[in-house]
Amino acid sequence: MAHPLLTIRGLRVGVGRGVPVEIVRGVDLDVDGGEKVGIVGESGSGKTLSMLAVLGLLPTPALRVLGGSVRLGGVELLDLDEPHLRRVRGARIAMIYQDPMSSLNPLLRVRTQIVETLVAHGVDRRRARERTREVLSQVGLRDAARVEGAFPHELSGGMLQRVMIAMALSTQPEVLIADEPTTALDVTVQEQILSLVGELQAQNRMAVVWVTHDLGVVARLVDRVAVMYAGRVVEHASTPDLFARPQHPYTAALLASLPRPGTAHRATLRQIPGSPPDPARLGSGCPYLPRCPQGDQECRVAEPDLLDRGPGRASACWKPRDRWQG
Ligand SMILES: Nc1ncnc2c1ncn2[C@@H]1O[C@H](COP(=O)(O)OP(=O)(O)O)[C@@H](O)[C@H]1O
Ligand SMILES: [Mg+2]
Repeated sequence: MAHPLLTIRGLRVGVGRGVPVEIVRGVDLDVDGGEKVGIVGESGSGKTLSMLAVLGLLPTPALRVLGGSVRLGGVELLDLDEPHLRRVRGARIAMIYQDPMSSLNPLLRVRTQIVETLVAHGVDRRRARERTREVLSQVGLRDAARVEGAFPHELSGGMLQRVMIAMALSTQPEVLIADEPTTALDVTVQEQILSLVGELQAQNRMAVVWVTHDLGVVARLVDRVAVMYAGRVVEHASTPDLFARPQHPYTAALLASLPRPGTAHRATLRQIPGSPPDPARLGSGCPYLPRCPQGDQECRVAEPDLLDRGPGRASACWKPRDRWQG
């Protein structure tokens, strides 16, 4: 049987030097070559930390991988030391962030940053310069020559986002992780960036993992969705299945909060009542129970596991959908 390109199993991330508080509490995800997968969940659900842990890029020593497995093409990334990881990052798996300035050096011209990235991956300098021009024009920067010579602060948010995508693509990764790369941009530029990544994904046959709090964004972009709540995947399905028949009440609530077509955007945007739990104060039951319209006493006893619910889908809920109230 063919193995998925990227396999994440039981990934756990904790914060704190003493007894850590678990923030990512056992994430499972498979990504096949060339596939588009979405990770969706409210802010604070652990999406970014999961992806940073995959890349070995947790930003502070207080954040630690506590357990699990991340295999890329059969190689266990969690066992690699920093020099080996650095070779994997960029060459095989790359990430673009919400804030481009977090991955660009403000003191270096755009050209220098991309060229040096390539040189660090063993590309000779002349070829690296050619490749830099190539990727900058691929990402639809009209004035690629000017952008190449510019410093990051001389560029708009949308242009910076394109530069970061160019940098990520330059080494032709097999997997691109896009962590809410459009949230900070205005709507028109967001649309442009989304369709750009879509085109590049198809051209380059990369796998793309879209991380977003916006289920609406994901609907148009991905084949499959993993919904995260309180540090775990609570539902997992193909995009059409998820929209047609959510199996977790949290997914149903996310869907209900989407603006309906044909109505004013603001008028229909509804928040899910209540707020996500504090990771330091999780009890023994289902973490969604305090907000769940389907929950009852049974749900207090233990946290439900993510179980198969038919071909290609899984959910972590004690209540079968056909017994939901209302
Ligand atoms: N550097 C950090 N130090 C301590 N706690 C953090 C840090 N970064 C994130 N967290 C905690 O982890 C939780 C999950 O964060 P994150 O993965 O960024 O969520 P998401 O990307 O889903 O919005 C946050 O609510 C926050 O409490
Ligand atoms: Mg995030």
